[in-house]
Amino acid sequence: MSGVTGMVLGSGLGSLAEKVAVREQIPFSKAGLPQSSVPGHEGRFLLGQIAGREVIVMQGRVHLYEGHTAKAVTAGVRWMKEQGADELILTNAAGSVNAEFPTESWMMLSDHLNLTGTSPLEGGPEFVDLSEVYHGEWREAVRKTAEKLKIALCEGVYAGLRGPQYETPAEVRMLRTMGADAVGMSTVLEAIQARSLGIRVLGFSCLTNWASGMPGATLDHHDVMESGKRAANEMVRLLEGLFAERS
Ligand code: HPA
Repeated sequence: MSGVTGMVLGSGLGSLAEKVAVREQIPFSKAGLPQSSVPGHEGRFLLGQIAGREVIVMQGRVHLYEGHTAKAVTAGVRWMKEQGADELILTNAAGSVNAEFPTESWMMLSDHLNLTGTSPLEGGPEFVDLSEVYHGEWREAVRKTAEKLKIALCEGVYAGLRGPQYETPAEVRMLRTMGADAVGMSTVLEAIQARSLGIRVLGFSCLTNWASGMPGATLDHHDVMESGKRAANEMVRLLEGLFAERS
């Protein structure tokens, strides 16, 4: 299969990059991106292969809450498209809003709520169809691979907020009422940008903690990163399985 898969690694998930047979490393600054100021976000692109598939891995990302615009936050997606990416796998750390989706498990995004109040497409009449942001057939392939490898995978709706503060319990109740299963501070703008460029998209949330106000909720960036690290292996297995089946 030809083409290049772009990947964005979220908080604590940088170790996924260890699986890349790296040919070249490019710091964000050389690709015209701002450097990320968040611990756990490396700030570079790795070009190479995973399980025989050509990949560009964005190790870290930039966020609205760092003071960047929606355009700056999505510059990496446009850069990966220029390098030939025709598909994109977005990963993030998120809080679980759904009592049936346990922490340290993975949720594949079936859809999202863009609650950031902005869009990378702002400035022009780009009325992109978002009726299927996260590619249906590709998700089906992931479900089959996960089942084969006995990897538990939830599937649900990701709510993307601006942050940087974590939510209040009232906000989490609101998000649940709105249909969210997970909450985070990234991904939705990148997914919108990718769809506008005709890139097919998959998204995965590592459910690092219970969202605010839920039993057992503790909200701390260090814990979020540690949970991410523990769960990263499962995602490595899943993606390797997925790529190996297609190459
Ligand atoms: N809320 C928002 N973003 C997050 C969370 C959360 O609970 N956990 C990890 N990223």
